[in-house]
Amino acid sequence: MKPLLQVEDLTIAFVDENKQKVVVENINFSVGPGEILSIVGESGCGKSVTALSILGLLKPNARIIKGKILYQGNNLLDMSEKELDRIRGNEVAMIFQDVMNSLNPVLTIGKQLTESIGIHLGYDKKEANEYAIEIIKKVGLSDPRSIMRKYPHMLSGGMQQRVMIAMALSCNPKLIIADEPTTALDVTIQLQIMKLLVDLQKEFQMSIILITHDIGVVAELADRVTIMYAGQFMEEASVYQLFDKPYHPYTNALLKSIPSIYDDKNRKLASIPGTVPEDYSAIKGCKFADRCPYKVPLCEEIQVLSEMESDHFVRCHRAEKGELVYE
Ligand SMILES: Nc1ncnc2c1ncn2[C@@H]1O[C@H](COP(=O)(O)OP(=O)(O)O)[C@@H](O)[C@H]1O
Ligand SMILES: [Mg+2]
Repeated sequence: MKPLLQVEDLTIAFVDENKQKVVVENINFSVGPGEILSIVGESGCGKSVTALSILGLLKPNARIIKGKILYQGNNLLDMSEKELDRIRGNEVAMIFQDVMNSLNPVLTIGKQLTESIGIHLGYDKKEANEYAIEIIKKVGLSDPRSIMRKYPHMLSGGMQQRVMIAMALSCNPKLIIADEPTTALDVTIQLQIMKLLVDLQKEFQMSIILITHDIGVVAELADRVTIMYAGQFMEEASVYQLFDKPYHPYTNALLKSIPSIYDDKNRKLASIPGTVPEDYSAIKGCKFADRCPYKVPLCEEIQVLSEMESDHFVRCHRAEKGELVYE
């Protein structure tokens, strides 16, 4: 199947006070029609920068050093603002964590939805109104007419996120990029919203790039997963392969941090000591080495992604040699 979106060798840097730091390095991934790809990694790994680059939404101090972002075979990086505008909203929609910055506080939900539907789907006012009601129902909100009259601040966090999803759906996109869409919500609501996204994905036949720091949500939802650390992809595989047999110590550590339903509520989760370095662009070898319990001198040398099994890639010298066995 031809991919809908294909990212090739993408490298992105930021320039501050004439100093350049690479924050996303040589990443490759593709998303097929109807596929859910998840990008997982701790905060500060380059997930949002990756997401924002797709729709040309990076801050002015960002530089695309190299690479291609092909949407249906056309490089988005070569497109004019006007051409990109046609893709944003019509073909690809984004859902952010920060709902209040994405919804307009001074317009009612109904106004925002019908406007978007009018622009993107070309419906007249009455049709747009009917469609808005339909999608509000689809995102699981009852009494759509009353929701339409409300302003964003009058809704709970979970309801706001559902409205964001309705906004994204209002243009009938082929791809939704969801960047930590539920991080601000409490756990039970997070799960409901994620399930909703997947149900809608099936119904509307969309593709989704689901970005999260929580590998726990991925198991039930995604088809493929890439594990991102310090601007690089460390491992990529189908969800099944990744959970069945992680190769990278970072993946293993993330998996160990998933709470189990059998856990005592007070149990402290295994967390990974240390944090993602603030500027990781100068690290030559494995960027995770400093935090890795399996580190050896070889880890200071550059490592590429290698294919361990069909469509299962890892960037780790020791995993590649078969030296790592996890309990
Ligand atoms: N506008 C910017 N200028 C300089 N550095 C930035 C900018 N935006 C993000 N960064 C840096 O890029 C790295 C990746 O950030 P980000 O993609 O937001 O991480 P994530 O979404 O995985 O938490 C971080 O080190 C962050 O400090
Ligand atoms: Mg982010």
